[in-house]
Amino acid sequence: LPSSASSSDDFLRCLSEKIPPELVYPQSSGSFMSVLSSSVQNPKFLTNATVRPVCIVAASGASHVQDAVRCGRRHGVRLRVRSGGHDYEGLSYRSVRAEVFAVLDLSRFRAVRVHAGDATVWVDSGATLGELYYAIGTVNPGFAFPGGTCSTVGVGGFLSGGGIGLMTRKFGIGADNVLDARIVNADGEILDRAAMGEDLFWAIRGGGGESFGVVVSWRLKLSMVPRTVTVFNIFRAADNSGAAAAMLAKWETLVLEPFLPDLTILVVLQGRTVLFQSLYLGGCSRLTATMRAYFPELGMTPADCHELTWLRAMAFISLGSTDLPVEGILNRTNNLGTYIKSKSDYVRRPIGGAAWDTLFQRHLSSNNAGVLILEPHGGVVGSVVPDTITPYPHRQGVLYNVQYGVFWWGDAEGASASAAIRWLEETYEFMTPLVSSNPREAFANYRDLDIGENSVGAGANGVTTYESGRVWGEKYFMGNFRRLAAVKGKVDPGDYFRNEQSIPPLLQSY
Ligand code: FDA
Repeated sequence: LPSSASSSDDFLRCLSEKIPPELVYPQSSGSFMSVLSSSVQNPKFLTNATVRPVCIVAASGASHVQDAVRCGRRHGVRLRVRSGGHDYEGLSYRSVRAEVFAVLDLSRFRAVRVHAGDATVWVDSGATLGELYYAIGTVNPGFAFPGGTCSTVGVGGFLSGGGIGLMTRKFGIGADNVLDARIVNADGEILDRAAMGEDLFWAIRGGGGESFGVVVSWRLKLSMVPRTVTVFNIFRAADNSGAAAAMLAKWETLVLEPFLPDLTILVVLQGRTVLFQSLYLGGCSRLTATMRAYFPELGMTPADCHELTWLRAMAFISLGSTDLPVEGILNRTNNLGTYIKSKSDYVRRPIGGAAWDTLFQRHLSSNNAGVLILEPHGGVVGSVVPDTITPYPHRQGVLYNVQYGVFWWGDAEGASASAAIRWLEETYEFMTPLVSSNPREAFANYRDLDIGENSVGAGANGVTTYESGRVWGEKYFMGNFRRLAAVKGKVDPGDYFRNEQSIPPLLQSY
């Protein structure tokens, strides 16, 4: 797939013959930068040094996606697909290396088709999780979908990478709840589940979005939840008393309690503060009794409860307040104020009070802009489904996912950036003996290029090498990586859909 300036001219000409001009933004367009930055979450990838697309195709329907793929194939221009733009390494809209590519932006392609009393929904990839929650909660109250905590995340990327959140313990990861999907493949054809076959349908539910085609819509299974659920945000100080460390040591042991799948307590550690954020699929009085019985150390009382509908609970979790209108979760406006770098881990054995104490004293207290988010597993995700049901392998025996993040202000690079990254690396290093190993597991949705990047074989038609993909791929997908590579070898042997962490094509059976 050789690409050059002339191939990008031919590509643009091809697009102009098929797609309305107001949906195509070449670099020369006055709106190019505002459309490019519209859903970017991290200004680190909007500098003058960033490798930018030759154009953005703002698809509003599946036929535009098909046309963009066909023009791209014909003229040697790859596409990077963007749904919500939340990729932690910006791979949906920038390339690490010099490359001629286009962005296929799906943010206008975002209908949610939901009907009262129907336990399924069709949603287009460009919808945000907030738009999905709002449509379900207003049209079909009593039903819910296990999505993530942040309402601006795109459905396309969330489900492509698996998707975890506050109901994963009860209903599995987001991708476990996909019943059907429509994908545009490397030949520009649209395939549903029956047409794509079970191998490809398996791969797109968590195997990463960039490798197999463009998923345009998803049919999701909804689950019934009580009309009233309960949420709380309890903040505790991590002072020198060791009390916060003791609370965390207790919290770790609760994750695998088989009788508590209705209860999820996510933990956010930042500076000297610990936030325990809970979603309980039931009322306040039972929650309070459960907390008194199993986690008295937290000191939760009925005054901490907010009894809400599921939709309002998701708005509380995303917006941080019960006072704001629920419509706030429809807001797609991005905030480009802070730079961020993230990493992830999985914990399979409790790390214990002493390690938590050291983490507070040596790491968290030294940097108010460093954060750890602990997302509990166990429950359904840990016990009922086998590790191979979808590509997401972090199931049996996993206590929780750790997401490390560090923020900084000012410039993308420079002294503040270096200090922030040093903090992140030292904290990650400290955790090494405490987290999973061989491989050190990581979450595909919390993309981290530090764990490995693809190399491409020599020649104009070179494809991503299997060995380079294994380095990062087995951390995200463990034993499922080889099957993903075999599916890729079957559906896209020429490696049209690729980026720095796409699945390499394995051209022999797995
Ligand atoms: P974006 O559009 O950047 O796409 C991400 C990747 O998927 C890219 O490689 C892209 O090419 C590919 N892709 C996107 N749409 C596709 C499509 N339709 N077909 C094929 N490929 C496609 N995760 C989680 O599991 N639980 C959570 O609670 C959160 N919370 C959260 C909060 C915040 C503030 C951020 C920045 C991120 C998260 N995430 C998360 C991580 C998030 O799920 C992850 O970044 C997703 O890939 C984002 O999906 P978007 O569509 O927004 O990203």
